[in-house]
Amino acid sequence: MIDKLFLSTITGNKSQRTPIWMMRQAGRYLKEYQLIRSAQKDFITFCLNPEKASTVTVQPITRYAFDAAIIFSDILIVPWAMNRDVRFQTGIGPLLNPMVKPDDINKSCLNDFEQKLLPVGEAIKLTKALLPKEIALIGFAGAPWTLITYMAEGKSSRDFQKARLWAWQDAKALDGLLEILIEATILFLCLQARSGAECLMLFDSWASAVPASQRDWLVTKPTAAIVKGVRKQGYKQPIIGFPKGFGDGLINFANESGVDAIGLDHSINPMWAEKNLPKNLPVQGNLDPISLLGSGKEMFRDIDNILEAFHNRPHIFNLGHGITPQTPVENVQIMIDYIRNR
Ligand code: CP3
Repeated sequence: MIDKLFLSTITGNKSQRTPIWMMRQAGRYLKEYQLIRSAQKDFITFCLNPEKASTVTVQPITRYAFDAAIIFSDILIVPWAMNRDVRFQTGIGPLLNPMVKPDDINKSCLNDFEQKLLPVGEAIKLTKALLPKEIALIGFAGAPWTLITYMAEGKSSRDFQKARLWAWQDAKALDGLLEILIEATILFLCLQARSGAECLMLFDSWASAVPASQRDWLVTKPTAAIVKGVRKQGYKQPIIGFPKGFGDGLINFANESGVDAIGLDHSINPMWAEKNLPKNLPVQGNLDPISLLGSGKEMFRDIDNILEAFHNRPHIFNLGHGITPQTPVENVQIMIDYIRNR
């Protein structure tokens, strides 16, 4: 199994070549994605179509020969499978029925949860059959806090006031919601592992909104509970934590969450991470995706800084956040060539 460069690196081995993949690598910056997407009315239905999902998962591998693929789905498929209303509106983004209070839902929302997510497992099986054998397949889920921000507001938000207010004023009820989401996430990650995902990633995209005093409660401990739950079910796939915008909270997260590797966003100075994170902990990241809108010497300078900082540590090259739809495809190739020819 460890003949895959990505898997070898994410499990702590150093190799001559740095593996590369990009968050949101299957998506709108690719015309081959848009071609399939434009024939789909509904984004959730698209995510739950195993043939189409596996086709778009493989597209960036065919084009760029990345070292890992990430299964095409979305973090909001989890609230959808918990019977929340989830839609994606072009030009707006996700729309959910906002929760009034954190205890609006109870565990009965998980009754047909796994059943509803079986197509993601099917997509993983189909993708495994399509991928070149040296390419690893990553499964993923949103972390509980990030899901709560969307479930509370009912949409993308700038300051996440509602979820943050719950944390200050309704802690007990919020604990109940966290518990349900932890259980759901364990079920979903185990389903993906069982279907053939070789690595699992937890996206906590809005960890940045959590005050320092609540980081353990809302981000680190839920991650630890999920890692523990997946291990308890017997799955050994490496797990990557990505608490975006967590700053110096990463030090405690690295020690306490139990994840096997950490995704770094582009606000993190690579030299700081190198100095402050546990020796030999694999890291992934962290070029600013906006640098790819051009391909000037500033981008090469940052790539150099990242590669040099992590020279002595298992490192997977990635962006600090998802690639944006406006990115010219040729700039991605320029980035890859630069890293591989260095
Ligand atoms: O290639 C891949 O990365 C795999 C698929 C993937 C998608 N979403 C597909 C998608 C992954 C890993 C995600 C994760 C995701 N989804 C996150 C965490 C990572 C991050 O970016 O912070 C979050 C917060 C979401 C929620 C989400 N999904 C939003 C806010 C939006 C609308 C904004 C946008 O980017 O369009 C989506 C839609 C979405 N998810 C698209 C894709 C390709 C675009 C929808 C479309 O094609 O019409």
